[in-house]
Parts: sequence; C-alpha cells; structure tokens
Amino acid sequence: MCGIVGYTGGRQAAPVILDGLTKLEYRGYDSAGIAVSNKSGNIDIVKAKGKLQVLCKVTHNGENLDGFCGIGHTRWATHGEPSENNAHPHCNEDNTIVAVHNGIIENYVPLKEKLIRRGYKFYSETDTEVATKLVDYYYKKYNDPLRALTEFALHARGSYALAVLYKDYPGEIFAIRKDSPMVVGYTDGGAYLASDVPAILKYTRNVYYTDNYEISRLSANGVKFYNLDREETEKQPSVITWDAEAAEKGGFEHFMLKEIHEQPDVVRNTLNCFVRDGEIDFGELNLSDEDFKNFDSVIITGCGSAYHVGVVAQYVIEDLARIPVRVEIASEYRYRNPVLTGKELLVVISQSGETADSLAALREMSAKGIKSLAVVNVVGSSIARAADAVFYTKAGPEISVATTKAYSAQLIAVYLLALKLAKVRKTITENRYKGFLKELATLPEKISGILGNKSEIQKFASEMMDRKDVFFIGRGIDYATCIESSLKLKEISYIHSEAYAAGELKHGTISLIENGTLVLGILTQNSLVEKTISNLKETESRGAYVAVLATEDVAGIPANFRKLFSLPGVDGHFSASIAVVVMQLFAYFLSVLRGNDVDKPRNLAKSVTVE
Ligand code: G6P
Repeated sequence: MCGIVGYTGGRQAAPVILDGLTKLEYRGYDSAGIAVSNKSGNIDIVKAKGKLQVLCKVTHNGENLDGFCGIGHTRWATHGEPSENNAHPHCNEDNTIVAVHNGIIENYVPLKEKLIRRGYKFYSETDTEVATKLVDYYYKKYNDPLRALTEFALHARGSYALAVLYKDYPGEIFAIRKDSPMVVGYTDGGAYLASDVPAILKYTRNVYYTDNYEISRLSANGVKFYNLDREETEKQPSVITWDAEAAEKGGFEHFMLKEIHEQPDVVRNTLNCFVRDGEIDFGELNLSDEDFKNFDSVIITGCGSAYHVGVVAQYVIEDLARIPVRVEIASEYRYRNPVLTGKELLVVISQSGETADSLAALREMSAKGIKSLAVVNVVGSSIARAADAVFYTKAGPEISVATTKAYSAQLIAVYLLALKLAKVRKTITENRYKGFLKELATLPEKISGILGNKSEIQKFASEMMDRKDVFFIGRGIDYATCIESSLKLKEISYIHSEAYAAGELKHGTISLIENGTLVLGILTQNSLVEKTISNLKETESRGAYVAVLATEDVAGIPANFRKLFSLPGVDGHFSASIAVVVMQLFAYFLSVLRGNDVDKPRNLAKSVTVE
C-alpha cells in the first residue's frame, strides 16, 4: 500500500509532486522517492528512508530537482524492508525507464526468474523493480511505450497502479492500473496523476477516474486514454466538489481530533442526503422497493472498523426488519464456500473502497450472482465500481489512519438500510418509522454535547495512562461498540485491550483480570444493563477497576463503579453512534499522553490494498 503522484506541465515538477505526496502519507510512510526528467533529458531519482519529510529535506522541498515532468511515491513496505534501496521509483539498468507502483504483483517471483534468464539483474527485493524491468523488456522488444504497458498487464498478476517515465518520451507520463486506485487530473497547462484526490486538489478539480486495464498518457497538452488494444478511448471527466480545506487539519492538533469533531456534520450530511421530507430516499442507490422486499437475508462483510459497523447492523436490521443477517470478516468470507439461496443482499462496507479482502469477497459473491450494495466513502473507488449499488457515505476525506468519522457515517448508512427494509417489509408501523427518523436527526446534537465535554474524558484518560490491559464489556449493541472501542485503543495507544460480550468473559478470559485491571462496561441497552452490571461485579470481585459508560437514564449502577461519562438518552438501536465518540476520545487522549504518533500509528496504514 502506497501513494503515487505524477505531474507534467509548466511548473517545476518536484515541488508539486512532493506537495501531493504529503496528502497521501496516510497510504504509507516508511520511505519515499521521486523521479524527474531533467533539462538534459535524463531522469534523476532521489529516494529516502523514513517519512516524506526526509525526502523533502534532501531535495529542499523539490527545489533541487530541475524538470517539468516527474513521478513520486510514498511507501508502506510489502516486499522488502523499508530502505532506500527498496524505495520507489525503480529503474531499468540504463535509467531510461523509471516507475512507481502501488499494489502487489503476485507472480513477481516467476516473472523475476524469467527476466534473470534473459540477463536482467536486480538490485532490490521489490516486486516493483520486477514490474519496471518487465516494462523495459517489452519496450525493448516492441519499441512502443503503450505496448510495453499492455504486455505488462497481460503478464503481471495482482494489483497495480503503475506510472512510468520513458526517457525516449520526455514530458510524458504513462500509467496503467488494475485494482489499485488512480485518479488523473488536468488543467490548461498540465496533467496530474495520483492515488487519491487530496494529492492534486490544490491544483485541479477536473479529474478522470481511470478503469482497470486503462492506460493514461499525460503530457502538458492534455491527457489521453487507451484500452488494451492501444486504441484511444473517450472518457467522461468528473468535477471534485470537496473543499480543499476538508483535506487539511483545520486548526486541530491532529487529523484524528479534527475528524472526531466533524462527526456531527458528517452524520447530518449523510442523513440529509438520504432522508427527504421525513422519508428515506434511496433513489441514487439503484435498488428498488421490490428488491428490498425480495431479499431473503442480508450478508454484511468488511474489515476492521467497517466489519464492526456490520456487527451493529446485525442487531439493528434483525430487530427492525426481521430478516436474517450474517456478518462476516471479509478476509475469511472470501475463502468460504457459503450456502446461498441466491436471494441474499450482500452489503460490503469500506471507507476507502479499496480494501483488498473486502473487494475480493464482493467479487466472489458477485460471481455467484448475489446482488451487492457497497457502503463506501471514496467516490469512484474499486468497491464502489464493482458493486451493483452504492451508498456513498458523506464523511469527506479521512486522513487519520484510525477511522472515526467514516465509521460514524457508515453507522448511519446501516440504520437507514434497516429502516428501509423494515418499512418495505412492513415490520414496523409508519409511526415507529417516522419516530426513528426523528431520533436519528437528534444524533448530531448529542454528539456535539459529548465533544463539548471532552475534558472529562481527557481527565479519565490521564488517570488511566499507565494501564497495561483494558477490557471492554457489553451486551447486544454495546458489545458491538466494545469491539470498535477496543480496536481504537489498540490502534493508537498501543495498550493491550480485549472486547468481550459481557456474558462470555467468565468462560475463560476472566482469568486475566488482576488487581487494578481496567474493565470498562458500556451500558446503553435498557433490557441488558442488569446482566452486564452483574458481569462487571464479577470482575470487580477479582480485583478489576470498573468504570462505566452509561446513558443518563440507566439505573442501578453500583456507587463504587467509576462513571466515565453520562451519555444523553437515545433510542437503544442508535446508541453506538454516541457511545463510540467517548471511546474514540478516550483512545485519542491516551495516545497523545503516551507520546504516540496519533495519525500514523506504528505498523498500520489507512488503506490495506493487499491480502
Ligand atoms: C485498515 C484500517 C482500519 C480500517 C480497515 C478497513 O486496516 O487501518 O482502520 O477499518 O482497514 O478499511 P476500509 O477502507 O475498507 O473501511
């Protein structure tokens, strides 16, 4: 998983490319590199291990590199350790073909062996060097820059967004993609290429989302597209409507904190787009009421936090719409042999729309004829394009690796899906339906209320900062909130934590409770709080320090339990939307207090486009 940027046009290329790469660091940040064709027609390459800042320093923010056409890369290692040698761009032996790549070439070993047999030598451990030399091989064979890329596509298996500079074609960038994102932008005097829109938003709002196996050819005069037969194709441009500010930190210390604070707006925006005049309007979804009536079950899949949204959805949809729901981890589901009726609705949840396992699960199911709905935040992403229908969450670009606002927007998507199914299938009355929609409209204000009192959570975090283990327990939807809360804590504070269905803890794991272990109980489900309180007491009697996150109307909480926060009252179906905000802030403050890199936690990346 990596980020790539390319630019050709009237400006000095390197500063534009480096600036673009800073917006893509969420895609990877263990090394970076840049290649620019200089005035004498040669291609200069500079690479540096570590964050992009190191490369910026070495090149004086790109000022040191002459030239108007170039490509850059920020890396998150897959093949070969993070090092200058393994960093992109990679080149052929005489430095006449230089490439950057995002994705994984799955058959790079046999390809490498074949190239070695033909006399090629390799200096790095990367699949990208193999890709570059494969392009070189076919370029030398056919003397055609387009043919070299189509041959590459015919021989390479896996995922790639590959951008190439040929010394013989100064001022031009050639690119091809399959299953890895790539967007191409243009202005009067130049053309841009990037893994994601924020990288080029400062320069242009006019973009093309490129398709699998499509070749893009960029020059200062414009952009051309070709298919695998090397025929030029027509393509419709899109205009980006995002505010450039939305991709910046906007005054907050970290993107994560900014994104946590954007949640009231994100929830409101997502609701406003799909609820009109007290009615859910799924007009843009390409799914009819007839479809919703005919599904006999719902299968939800995703990874990480997106999977956790599925766990919430399972409770809400089954309760309201009385239709069986299964939630499946995408990396498992893609290799399962499920028993299907053919009448299932597959819901794939993904912020980025590029997660390899989620995409693969979607493809497996589509091949079996199952109708799919993607809940995705990134417009034009691979999952969005592969699904039959798309619900675009309106979270805007999310930069912090740990997801917050996209998770919240996904929750709204699944609530609306539950209500839509319930209405069409007549499992709730019109009055209840309207009541639920009204209740949803109160969420932004309730979330704002929590944000306004975040110092309470900060204080609690400062008291807990030395804990080694934290257990989150709850039942029903509170359990679903627990698994997300625990993941947030692990991701950014590096404190070990477990999330358990409260009733399950005693079946083994309770042996880990020691004197002072922090056990956090989430109590928002009226019919279940008594049971969870009993489970909390079981841990307390084994030495746990118990704290609870409860809605204000929950009674019967023992006086000696620490109250972490009193949540505003909310219908139990939607309580995850407010409880999670407290837990996001708890994880955030712990991460800051422990001096961690909040937005770029160790070992993680925002978008996991590998298996
Ligand atoms: C990565 C991120 C997680 C995220 C998961 C799924 O592992 O670090 O925060 O939940 O991918 O990402 P997606 O883009 O599919 O929602």
